[in-house]
Amino acid sequence: MKTQVAIIGAGPSGLLLGQLLQREGISSVIVEAKSAEYVLGRIRAGVLEQGSADLLREAGAGERMDREGHVHEGFSLAFAGRRERIDLKALTGGKTVMVYGQTEVTRDLMAAREAAGGVTFYEARDVKPEGFYGDTPRVSFLKDGERVDIECDYIAGCDGFHGVCRQSVPREAITCFERVYPFGWLGILSRTPPAAPELIYASHERGFALCSMRSDTLSRYYVQCSLDDRVDDWSDDRFWDELRRRLPEDVAASLTTGPSIEKSIAPLRSFVAEPMKFGRMFLVGDAAHIVPPTGAKGLNLAASDVRTLHRVLSIRYREGREDILEQYSPACLRRIWKAERFSWWMTSLLHRLDDDPFSRRMQLADLDYFTHSAAGRTTIAENYVGLPYEPIA
Ligand code: FAD
Ligand code: DHB
Repeated sequence: MKTQVAIIGAGPSGLLLGQLLQREGISSVIVEAKSAEYVLGRIRAGVLEQGSADLLREAGAGERMDREGHVHEGFSLAFAGRRERIDLKALTGGKTVMVYGQTEVTRDLMAAREAAGGVTFYEARDVKPEGFYGDTPRVSFLKDGERVDIECDYIAGCDGFHGVCRQSVPREAITCFERVYPFGWLGILSRTPPAAPELIYASHERGFALCSMRSDTLSRYYVQCSLDDRVDDWSDDRFWDELRRRLPEDVAASLTTGPSIEKSIAPLRSFVAEPMKFGRMFLVGDAAHIVPPTGAKGLNLAASDVRTLHRVLSIRYREGREDILEQYSPACLRRIWKAERFSWWMTSLLHRLDDDPFSRRMQLADLDYFTHSAAGRTTIAENYVGLPYEPIA
């Protein structure tokens, strides 16, 4: 089998890239290790930058998002019994974010690919990107016991943090930067109305908490937890009690609780691999970088990598310019490092870091300063809505 771009991974990065390429007349085949149901069962991101939402529209998969998603013009930071609103729209000259779940983004992209007749192999085993330092790269895998080979011009490694693409690169060709945080996030999804109309990020002596949502009837909450905790340690009652203790009193008092329909623990990590291009293979999204979820940047960074790769591949095929491909890695990394910085900073600002009262005083001073200075609020807002995309020329 032959295609122009072989895409490994059918998460949001792989599916979005496939759709954008298809609209440009560039062929792709997607190879995914899991089933479509499994991919759709993962509850992850909930907040889309305006640029990510625009990209979904460009890919022809934005219709349901525009109907069912919620545009948010601000969010709140809660600390020391106070609640400070960050007015995203006013502070950024009109920019907002879209609350629409990653699950729904993925579902819409899968439907768009199916409607366009795109080829996707699910439940592929032993997937291998091969020959990417030469002129004839291939992706090979086992499907129903038979080995399949896909010959291609380029490989897009959209296979997430634990994927095979980054691991297939020679050690000496890649540099990785990493920070692992000594706590995790315990998240639940519940069929209850959200605690407040906008997201609340709460910094409390007992640890961080986040009130988010998927719709008017579906809420998503997170509390900082220990890395030793297991999901089974947390009954729903224990979760709700802990959440209430960390929220402002009025929010806690009006919180509607109910049975959880999903509960999971995610570790927190910062990670960047450099470069993101190896011969004819590109790393995209979580395959190349991870941010702690506090700034809501992971999915959005994946989307901005896809945007950049789509732009350079379009120029490559339209104008025959191979040189343009060299811009992919530096253009992505400039934006990635700034999002890494914001996510690391938000994480350090809002979580219980240690037992040292001095650390807490520094956090409270930072929160007080940033929420009371126009420059501070603007800094938070412009990072949260998403920094500008890097130009490609
Ligand atoms: P993935 O979604 O990981 O997709 C990779 C795909 O590749 C998977 O389907 C996987 O099965 C497949 N794969 C893996 N190995 C192979 C292989 N060997 N062969 C073939 N296929 C393979 N981001 C935000 O922007 N905003 C948020 O609010 C936010 N909140 C989050 C909350 C939580 C709890 C978590 C865990 C993450 C959150 N994120 C958020 C991050 C976001 O979910 C990820 O950044 C996003 O999923 C990255 O997409 P991706 O397509 O690059 O990778
Ligand atoms: C959600 C996740 C985040 O990491 C975040 O910063 C905001 C919202 C969510 O899952 O809704």
